[in-house]
Amino acid sequence: MISRPDEKVTRLTTKSEAGTKKIGAQLGHSLKPGDTVCLYGGLGSGKTVFTKGIASALGIPEADVTSASFLLVAEHPGRVPLYHADLYRIEDPAQIDFLGLEEYPAMGGITVIEWAERLPEDFDGCTHKVRIGIVRGRQREIIIERAHEL
Ligand SMILES: Nc1ncnc2c1ncn2[C@@H]1O[C@H](COP(=O)(O)OP(=O)(O)O)[C@@H](O)[C@H]1O
Ligand SMILES: [Mg+2]
Repeated sequence: MISRPDEKVTRLTTKSEAGTKKIGAQLGHSLKPGDTVCLYGGLGSGKTVFTKGIASALGIPEADVTSASFLLVAEHPGRVPLYHADLYRIEDPAQIDFLGLEEYPAMGGITVIEWAERLPEDFDGCTHKVRIGIVRGRQREIIIERAHEL
């Protein structure tokens, strides 16, 4: 288990892509429909890798989860659907309003938002905040915070 109900923040380190995926999968198994996981961390930190782990826990082939090209929100059917948003290409914060991210939790799936740093300051929809930091080489520090008591 990566977190106990009485622990709001969990800190982990990984030394491989596979390790990051595994932590994503463990979190994925604990998620409920309507949850929104906000991912923070720079380019190449492992946000998409982490999302692949979440996807695998939902019965979605991890190969289906890719870095965003033109799509800002990719929808993947699964045991629970996954809505994968990537705000990297957002140029104007007003564009985020058009994504309707607030509407996703009501659609019965799990939402994952990469580059959550770009969310408007007043966005309060993250049920989980995951911060991935590059320590050195392949080592990553992953801090998982449950943002709301549900
Ligand atoms: N421990 C690790 N966890 C995740 N990715 C790692 C790790 N070590 C090396 N990598 C590499 O870092 C890159 C992470 O890419 P990606 O998940 O697309 O990053 P982001 O979505 O944060 O920009 C991949 O090329 C992956 O192989
Ligand atoms: Mg990415």
